[in-house]
Amino acid sequence: MQPHDNHIAPILPPESVPQHVAIIMDGNGRWAKGQGHQRLFGHQHGVDAVREVVRTAAEVGVKYLTVYAFSTENWGRPSDEVDGIMHLIAGAILSELDTLTQAGIRMNFIGDLASLPEALQESIHTAQQVDLPSDRLRMTLNVALNYSARWELTEAMQQIASEVQNGTLAPERITPETIDDHLTTHGMPDPELLIRTSGEKRLSNFLLWQLSYTELYFTDTLWPDFGREQMLEALRAYGQRHRRFGKL
Ligand code: IPE
Ligand code: IPE
Ligand code: MG
Repeated sequence: MQPHDNHIAPILPPESVPQHVAIIMDGNGRWAKGQGHQRLFGHQHGVDAVREVVRTAAEVGVKYLTVYAFSTENWGRPSDEVDGIMHLIAGAILSELDTLTQAGIRMNFIGDLASLPEALQESIHTAQQVDLPSDRLRMTLNVALNYSARWELTEAMQQIASEVQNGTLAPERITPETIDDHLTTHGMPDPELLIRTSGEKRLSNFLLWQLSYTELYFTDTLWPDFGREQMLEALRAYGQRHRRFGKL
């Protein structure tokens, strides 16, 4: 038995564990270049980091983990890198599917999925066919693919506008909850914690609405080096934060 598996001393006080953690997984390219490799080598090792962080999050009781895997802006990279990333993600979804399902982890995909390459859409479709009964569901892993917050908010506004136009929604009845309900994260709590690796301190078009009151955690660690210990450290740092929400 691992020390962290016992019931006497949980690794983190359960009341300090966020329900929803969002991660901007950044620094794969620099990690690879720093070792004299091609950028894709970094993305390959980035998948290993995702596996370890997902396992750690589920273990400590996180209910939703949202990872930024590919942004709408990332299409601007050289096509061999984009193709490599798409291929890697399509393969990882299929190869991890059984292990994740066994562990009670459901994959959910957010973003403009219809514009992804066919093979990746097929992997996503396969993952979405898995039926995980609610009594076995431990954590939802949201994979943000071809995602950006401005894309998501634009989609939401289009849907809301069409409901107003067809008379099913009165403009004065639009509330913040209406907007929540039209986002890709509807039904989920907002992230309490956002982690960004690689030293960059920006949101890069990620979850702009949902992150309104989120605690931000930045680390210089490059994504392929971010594992169980680094995840626990981020969660511990979150546990020390005093969230005030504008009050005293
Ligand atoms: C994050 O690592 C992965 C994706 C954006 C797909 P990067 O590829 O951005 O790595 P750096 O930031 O260039 O080092
Ligand atoms: C953000 O990282 C997107 C993902 C992690 C998928 P980027 O590397 O694309 O962001 P910028 O370009 O540094 O803002
Ligand atoms: Mg980057």
